[in-house]
Amino acid sequence: MSSRHLQTLIRPLVRGLHPYVPGEQPKIKGLIKLNTNENPYPPSPKVLEATRAAVDGRLRLYPNPTAQLLRDKLARLHGCRPDNILVGNGSDEVLALAVRTFVDPVVGQASRLPARDEPPAPPCSKSLVQFFTPSYSLYPVLADIHGAARNAVPLHSDFTLPSLADLKRARQWDFRAALSLVTTPNAPSGCGYSTAQLEELCRAQKGVVLLDEAYVNFASEDAMSLALKYPHVLVARTFSKAYSLCFQRVGYCVGHPELIAAIHKIRDSYNVNGLGQVAAMATLDDLPHYRANFRRIIATRERLTCELGALGFQVFPSQTNFILVRPPKHPAKEWLQKLRDRKILVRWFSDPLVQDYLRITIGAPEEAAALVKAAKAVQ
Ligand SMILES: Cc1ncc(COP(=O)(O)O)c(C=O)c1O
Repeated sequence: MSSRHLQTLIRPLVRGLHPYVPGEQPKIKGLIKLNTNENPYPPSPKVLEATRAAVDGRLRLYPNPTAQLLRDKLARLHGCRPDNILVGNGSDEVLALAVRTFVDPVVGQASRLPARDEPPAPPCSKSLVQFFTPSYSLYPVLADIHGAARNAVPLHSDFTLPSLADLKRARQWDFRAALSLVTTPNAPSGCGYSTAQLEELCRAQKGVVLLDEAYVNFASEDAMSLALKYPHVLVARTFSKAYSLCFQRVGYCVGHPELIAAIHKIRDSYNVNGLGQVAAMATLDDLPHYRANFRRIIATRERLTCELGALGFQVFPSQTNFILVRPPKHPAKEWLQKLRDRKILVRWFSDPLVQDYLRITIGAPEEAAALVKAAKAVQ
């Protein structure tokens, strides 16, 4: 069968899709990996032990379909009930499920993407996935996969969040959008948003607001209280970044039981693997270990901010485990290669809004020192 024929078997929407591009997972040994916001510290010894102990004959059994014990523990952590919580295969799955639960595909678009020169369909709030830009680059892809419309509203040029008055004045933000996704603190800028400002936005919003707190453990404020106060607000969290569990794929969201029950309806029956559930539960039993790691990462972040600043980098204040920097002398894309030549991998995005910047994950102190040394050599 020819490739042309095979292409006709694929839904036109999927054929035209630009997929999400994850950060590189290099095969080359000895590279210092500061490109995907992974935690430089391993899971705690207790988590490793619990996970190892679970590798036995039980692997033949299906895991608990709703991650019940993990939801019980999370409910105790957040002062809510287990039916306020949905666990996903990473928070990426939670985001995808939210799009599928709350957003209607644009009629006719479920089967195809509009042609490049086609005027955009008039936005219908029920079909709208809305987010600020720059923020997590998965959001537009999730909207496209679902055949939804998207509304990308620019942040201020210093990446701060526009106030409610700004948003009303600019008339770009849709207060009736079916789903608004807000990364807080933001990625890739690292900028933290105040809970008061987020609350103001949530109160003005008619549709569902999902606050994506993937990096919140490195921030000075969190907005979990909003998910428990406002029925249309969800907060998503992940075990990937702060809890060193990217490999296990566990994320969750907290919100009103009616919204959570709706998301449960459409997820896969066994969406969270058993070892992931075990590892996440053991993590919650060992939180002081992780809180010490957060402090170490924040200390390294502050030191690196000063050291790169002294070398002429413009470093945006960060509330996350990465920093966004505008490097001096050479274009950011050249820096990417020059650092890679010195075995340091950072992230560069081609999006015009951030193409002059590099996003650098906060690694261990020795990795940060190696980065500074390489930066001095490049200059
Ligand atoms: C803002 C944001 N949200 C969610 C995620 C997804 O995390 P995970 O699927 O590993 O839980 C990421 C990962 O990079 C992220 O940057």
